[in-house]
Amino acid sequence: MTGRLRLGVNIDHVATIRNARGGDHPDPVRAAEIVAAVGGDGITAHLREDRRHIRDDDLRRIQDATNLPLNLEMAATDEMLAIALRHKPYAACIVPENREERTTEGGLDAAGLHNRLAPLVSRLVDAGIRVSLFIEADPRQLEAAMRLGAQVVEFHTGEYAHAIGEKRAAELKRISDMAALAVKNGVEPHAGHGLTYDNVQPIAAIPQLAELNIGHYLIGEAVFTGLETAVRRMRDLMDEAR
Ligand code: PXP
Repeated sequence: MTGRLRLGVNIDHVATIRNARGGDHPDPVRAAEIVAAVGGDGITAHLREDRRHIRDDDLRRIQDATNLPLNLEMAATDEMLAIALRHKPYAACIVPENREERTTEGGLDAAGLHNRLAPLVSRLVDAGIRVSLFIEADPRQLEAAMRLGAQVVEFHTGEYAHAIGEKRAAELKRISDMAALAVKNGVEPHAGHGLTYDNVQPIAAIPQLAELNIGHYLIGEAVFTGLETAVRRMRDLMDEAR
């Protein structure tokens, strides 16, 4: 039986547009309220070290505005750990972060960074925050995430999203195989990055996946059709694929 696939909406880029003018419009909180009203399952927000989109005070305002679970994407730093412990989001997704990148370009090296991640993961877990690691669909990374005690892994779908033809099919298989392996080992698999109306369905059809996190494309579409319509359409495509 394939369960319902949750949709977490990443609202970072509403804040990107707001910050372009330095004011308070458009407000990511309003986006969170719309996502809640149309049946989205969660809000994802990445507080980057350079605060290029979501800002510190947005987190509390988002938490106050809706009952949806907040998935805080964060770099593995002491500063972000302190913020997560203060805000206690429902989940924290640890992502690699590089100031020069335009977006999160690859998965976290959970294997190579074990010693840095171990205390951070246990502090978050001890605080009752569900910990997710944003990794490539790679057995070595999954095993490292398990060793770290992460309850969730989010597979980076960027390679899949950019690939075409046989390469895309191979990427899809890689994600599908790793999702099955994660479930077998008691880890909940999620996926995200670069997903669009055109490429979401093969990913949504992977029966073990519990959640997709989608941002940039939805906010881009919202410019043309409104956020409500964009989230509904993505939801319909996901449901159709299951
Ligand atoms: N999941 C994670 C962990 C991410 O870092 C991002 C991008 O910030 C997303 C999902 C959403 O990716 P996109 O904006 O390409 O939909």
